[in-house]
Amino acid sequence: DFARTELLPGVIERDEKQIFPAEQVRKMGELGFLGMMVDPKYNGGGMDTISYVLAMEEISKIDASASVVMSVNNSLVCWGLEKFGTEQQKEKYLKRLATGEIIGAFCLSEPEAGSDATSQRTTAVDKGDHYLLNGTKNWITNGNSASVYIVMAQTDPDKKHKGINALIVEKDMEGFTVGPKENKLGIRGSDTHSLMFSDVKVPKENRIGEDGFGFTFAMNTLNGGRIGIASQALGIASGAYELALEYSKQRKAFGVEIAKHQAIQFKLADMATQIEAARMLCLKSAWLKDQKQDFSEAGAKAKLYASQVAMDTTVEAVQIHGGYGYVKEYHVERLMRDAKITQIYEGTSEIQKIVIARSLLK
Ligand code: CAA
Repeated sequence: DFARTELLPGVIERDEKQIFPAEQVRKMGELGFLGMMVDPKYNGGGMDTISYVLAMEEISKIDASASVVMSVNNSLVCWGLEKFGTEQQKEKYLKRLATGEIIGAFCLSEPEAGSDATSQRTTAVDKGDHYLLNGTKNWITNGNSASVYIVMAQTDPDKKHKGINALIVEKDMEGFTVGPKENKLGIRGSDTHSLMFSDVKVPKENRIGEDGFGFTFAMNTLNGGRIGIASQALGIASGAYELALEYSKQRKAFGVEIAKHQAIQFKLADMATQIEAARMLCLKSAWLKDQKQDFSEAGAKAKLYASQVAMDTTVEAVQIHGGYGYVKEYHVERLMRDAKITQIYEGTSEIQKIVIARSLLK
């Protein structure tokens, strides 16, 4: 209901003009969508991951630019802070992040460290009571709209990935600059920026976990994040499918509704089957996480498959709409553009296959 009444109006304009859905995100916070799984004692919704998957699918059917804000805040920021943060960090940051009073960003990717995430060039030099942070982060979701940033940085290069720390950086810390907004193919309403850190003093109490825990923090957090992005891909696919189904029952060609032609029926049958399979993978990974079982392989499978289904389904939804599908008013071209990012962020499809294969072979 929220997606239809609050996100649908203006979604085409926000996409076209790259407008961040600030007002809509504020309302999502009020409804509890930004800290769904956080314990109520830290102002969260206290819900399970299954509920999160269901909500992510519905929001993503209409506006994937809004759902990526939701996904990053819930999975990569709130979850990581709640699981690994200190009590003081939870009081100071998590309580406000969970209500959406402020939103957060997760900063791992760099100009030369995307898939190869252990190759962090950003440095956090230990200066006793603080770290001195220098470097650049790329493709950061919520780059400008966030107030709190979890930044991975190398403290001890000799220790390779075991020398990386995860630091909580506030936007107004001296030496921190937000770069220009990226002009993207899809999810154009979300604000993606590069970030520059020049001698930013980050207090030691802002480190998450023990010294050198940063890479493990990032990997564990991304395991859960992948369930969120899989659900986003699922929503993009099911949104496109629902539009194609309705259109095919109205549009006539060769004397009948196009849904009466087998060429269209075959497409609808494939779409519905693949979407249901993707939904089951999303729900299974969420269920494993809720049961406190290992969910990294299941989450990677869900993301790998659901993102492929999002691509295939949205391309077919445009095809079913014919020429109408190629113009903005019918929404499916936007969903097709939005689908592509789900095969890239929080680990490309190739990275998901590596995660799955390593789990199978271990
Ligand atoms: N879960 C938990 N731990 C993991 C893990 C996982 N899925 N994958 C690796 N690790 C651990 C390993 O166990 C190892 O730890 P130990 O040395 O203590 O045993 C450590 O991480 C290093 O692992 P590897 O030696 O396997 O490292 P690698 O360099 O060969 O490969 C990788 C690691 C899996 C490829 C990893 O770099 C990776 O996941 N890359 C993709 C990064 C990514 O997803 N980036 C997304 C950016 S965030 C984003 O997109 C957010 C947004 O804006 C929407």
